Amino acid sequence: MPVSLTRDDGIAVITIDNPPVNAASHAVRQGLADAIAAIAEDKTLRGVILACAGKTFVAGADIREFGKPPVPPSLRDVIAALEALTIPVVAAIHGTALGGGFELALGCHYRVMDRNAFVGLPEVTLGIIPGAGGTQRLPRLIGMAPSIDMITSGRRVPAKEALELGIADNVAEHDLLAEARAFIATKPAVRRLCDLLSIAAGFTDAHKQISQKARGQASPLRALDVLEETAGMDFAQGMAREAEVFAELRNSDQARALRYIFFAEREIAKIPEAEARPVPVAQPGIIGGGLMGTGIAAAALLAGLSVILVERDRPSADLARDRVLGLLRASVERGKLAQSDFDRIAAGGLRTTAAMADLSTADLVIEAAFEDLGVKQAIFRDLDSIAKPEAILATNTSYLDVGAIADVTSRPKQVIGLHFFSPAHIMKLLEVVVPPNAAPETVATGFALARKLGKIAVRAGVCDGFIGNRILSAYRKQAEYLMEDGAAPAEIDAAFRGFGLPMGVFEMQDMAGLDIVWANRKALSPRRDPRERYVRIVDLICERGRFGRKTGSGYYNYAGKSPVPDEETLAIIAEERRRNGVTARGFTSDEIMDRILLAMINEGARILDEGIALRPGDIDVVMVNGYGFPRWRGGPMFIADEIGVKEILRRIEILAREDAWFWRPSALLIRLAEAGGKFAK
Ligand code: 3HC
Repeated sequence: MPVSLTRDDGIAVITIDNPPVNAASHAVRQGLADAIAAIAEDKTLRGVILACAGKTFVAGADIREFGKPPVPPSLRDVIAALEALTIPVVAAIHGTALGGGFELALGCHYRVMDRNAFVGLPEVTLGIIPGAGGTQRLPRLIGMAPSIDMITSGRRVPAKEALELGIADNVAEHDLLAEARAFIATKPAVRRLCDLLSIAAGFTDAHKQISQKARGQASPLRALDVLEETAGMDFAQGMAREAEVFAELRNSDQARALRYIFFAEREIAKIPEAEARPVPVAQPGIIGGGLMGTGIAAAALLAGLSVILVERDRPSADLARDRVLGLLRASVERGKLAQSDFDRIAAGGLRTTAAMADLSTADLVIEAAFEDLGVKQAIFRDLDSIAKPEAILATNTSYLDVGAIADVTSRPKQVIGLHFFSPAHIMKLLEVVVPPNAAPETVATGFALARKLGKIAVRAGVCDGFIGNRILSAYRKQAEYLMEDGAAPAEIDAAFRGFGLPMGVFEMQDMAGLDIVWANRKALSPRRDPRERYVRIVDLICERGRFGRKTGSGYYNYAGKSPVPDEETLAIIAEERRRNGVTARGFTSDEIMDRILLAMINEGARILDEGIALRPGDIDVVMVNGYGFPRWRGGPMFIADEIGVKEILRRIEILAREDAWFWRPSALLIRLAEAGGKFAK
């Protein structure tokens, strides 16, 4: 039974036990309804505690039930019955009380939280709004402005802040249930949030701020609308309006996409090596104190690991140390790191050195040196002779052959790719790149380290660019073709932003540095197929020493307050069109994004077919978490299934009339279209 009821000394304890996260499934709701009915009839009771077994309080409604017709009793009815009890009801919250779980706690008359617990209403992140009274009870408890913040952002609030906001009535330092009992012993009055008034305030500027952040996602603004429309309204009317909007959003395209990506982000941990034992990593070593190396060091230090960072000489090591501490100081300012932890790191948690030999004690070493196979192979040869025999050696390469790096060592089974994204202490994505000889324990260690660092790890096979950069390379090429054929870089970037990405492909390259793109193109040029159309524009821009933002010009000019299209670059584009006999034509934003998406999908299909990615969802997780693909659109592979594989193939075949080499359809796409299949199947 997922819900049990015990009575002891006049106190009823309802315990929900529905692993793994105590989701409020139908069985839980029915169990709660039965327990509440039994309590209502028992006149000997003086108080009720609502608690959960396992690792967390109820983490929300059962998301797996969302696609299906609702089965009574509804969570709202259960909460109403709980709130109506005539003896004080206290929620004892540990872990995370989220969504419907937090709404259940708001239906209780009081809340005692474990000191490590969190509460939150993350519904907007699933494309919906709170549907069991969250938009009505929370403002009545803590006021409108903090409710707007919590409900439209979905952020989790820790116990200490919950106490300050008035969400928690008490925080338990040791024994949660004992504290909840002690709270009831103070004989608190029954206090029902539904009986309080809600006050309309705090809406100034909220709409503008939220719509800017939402970038096309509907739910945060719909949540704000409901808060605004129902502020000051009678409770029952407010609940009715909340229910209407909840029902409307529940099966919306955005909600389906967001649910899909929620589950895809959980699927990624299911790898063939999941049962292997990871090597414990307490002290990673890092080679290279550039942008990536220092970012990775900061990520490890923020996760509580100690780090040894190696640079080529003492001055470079000192510079790297300053960079890492600079990143961590910014984390202190953003409230992500306590000052005392910063002091501890500065005093010894971070060691920087110019001696590779100091890596002899590291459990795992991540090389983040210059992106060149020869350079990396030389480092790995050295490292192999220095690192302890059981140590795992990782490379942070973003596209080189990890197998060719592993093969220069005497321990290819212990070599892996860990492709972090910049800035590595902020970006969540990590591609764990598995060369053919890697042992399962090595892969498991990569995943365990990612978990420790709070990263979203996706398993990738070895190929040029792995999953993400390989897809980027395909759609960047397509963007270059569109540019040469007539669309201005600013038009293409505007189409990306209109689709919901934070920036366009050309702005992104200007920010990353066009010299990096250029070096990459030169490295890959010997392997380029002669049938491939090649656009020289970026090479010509770079030849003039214009590397993007850092040199003041690239696709855009950065001399003024805000970037504007760069005239010299526009002239280069016009000249290239002339040279190639291209008559510029116009493209609408939809046409641009259609081609970009088709390029992503076709390359994604190849990646799947080659076994580089385990599942279509893994590709979408990479695109959403590493490349700014709007989460509420699910990802390119999700979109392909929504449109239908057959239709995708049809569109690609039409485009192939213009460029048969670029648009040659993936074999998997053809097979699926013939079989009437879907990527997800
Ligand atoms: N419903 C169904 N399954 C859920 C779930 C939910 N609400 N939350 C988590 N799960 C499942 C996961 O899919 C995963 O399943 P798997 O093992 O088969 O892959 C398993 O529970 C464990 O989840 P995690 O791997 O995420 O475990 P963590 O310990 O890392 O995180 C958590 C736990 C913080 C609770 C995280 O799972 C989470 O954020 N869950 C979603 C919370 C949420 O969004 N709640 C709101 C739901 S909507 C709602 O309540 C509507 C209401 O207003 C009516």
